[in-house]
Amino acid sequence: MKIDGRHYRTIFPEADGRSVQVIDQTRLPFAFELKRLASLDDAAVAIRTMVVRGAPLIGVTAAYGLALAMREDPSDGGIERACTTLAATRPTAINLRWALDRAAGLLRRAPETEREALAFAEAARIADEDVASCRSIGEHGAKILAEIAAKKSGPVKVLTHCNAGWLATVDWGTALAPIYVAHDAGVPVHVYVDETRPRNQGAALTAFELNAHGVPHTVIADNAGGHLMQHGDIDVCIVGSDRTTASGDVCNKIGTYLKALAASDNRVPFYAALPFSTIDWTLEDGVRDIPIEERDAREVTHLTGRTEDGGFATVQVVSPGSPVANPAFDVTPARLVTGIITERGVCEASADGLATLYPERRRAA
Ligand code: MRU
Repeated sequence: MKIDGRHYRTIFPEADGRSVQVIDQTRLPFAFELKRLASLDDAAVAIRTMVVRGAPLIGVTAAYGLALAMREDPSDGGIERACTTLAATRPTAINLRWALDRAAGLLRRAPETEREALAFAEAARIADEDVASCRSIGEHGAKILAEIAAKKSGPVKVLTHCNAGWLATVDWGTALAPIYVAHDAGVPVHVYVDETRPRNQGAALTAFELNAHGVPHTVIADNAGGHLMQHGDIDVCIVGSDRTTASGDVCNKIGTYLKALAASDNRVPFYAALPFSTIDWTLEDGVRDIPIEERDAREVTHLTGRTEDGGFATVQVVSPGSPVANPAFDVTPARLVTGIITERGVCEASADGLATLYPERRRAA
């Protein structure tokens, strides 16, 4: 995506081949800054502290983290240590483990002297594949938006939750990719952006992206979506996913489930857009089996933002002493999901639906 006329990916290797650059997402939307990752530790800290976030992007960052670790210690033990460190950073998004399994599997079969170069090449391949998948998700999803546009006057009103855009992937995004492709093709779209407490990825990151791309949008408080749907102000919901089960249950940022319930009650189509690397083929029941990250209470009790004089301030917003819970994700059961948009097309959210797009993964009966 372009920022100030220059095209950026959210992660890219430096010319010296010894480190990678990422966009520091903790500084957005007020400052666009790059951060250099030069070691396994740098990569692990960047994922844990959400300098980088979003399921596909943390997968790619983990793959580069493994490559950086190979420079320090290319032994079998070095691979295991790096994978353990990186896998422990965030538990919910399966993309992280998927990328590590893929890259580590390749490295284990290679001589130690070749592992660093191989790991960097594999991380770059995973990044390129993510861009291609997201672009393809965009093309498939844009057809849905164009169909809606053909049946109404005015813009297609899309509600999205959290940030599943360019910043959550390497480029394009998942839920936002159809919006970008449709907008670029002249389909009128207006995006309603859930603020997405507690970290406000919608208000800070999705709004930043849509502004940068010139897509009309409105930021709404998290609790406003149901009301808008009741009044016919949302034509379709599109969200991303951090892990989707083989039966089509969709895990995504906390609050997604409530939007799906409101969408179902108001007969608003509800789509999840995700690449194959987000599908956990080993799980069926997402509510029961997907590990949900519990994050620091301070994300709920405090808010950081820009002050009117251009500085930054952190303020407490919860009554001091009150206990706080902060589950970061929830699971929307497949029955509430109208369809899953992937790089291979759009399918029903079910084992059979996914099998139509990924026949190679259909389990033997
Ligand atoms: O906690 P985050 O910011 O990493 O959560 C991100 C989301 O929930 C996204 O919707 C999800 O990763 C899909 S990304 C294309």
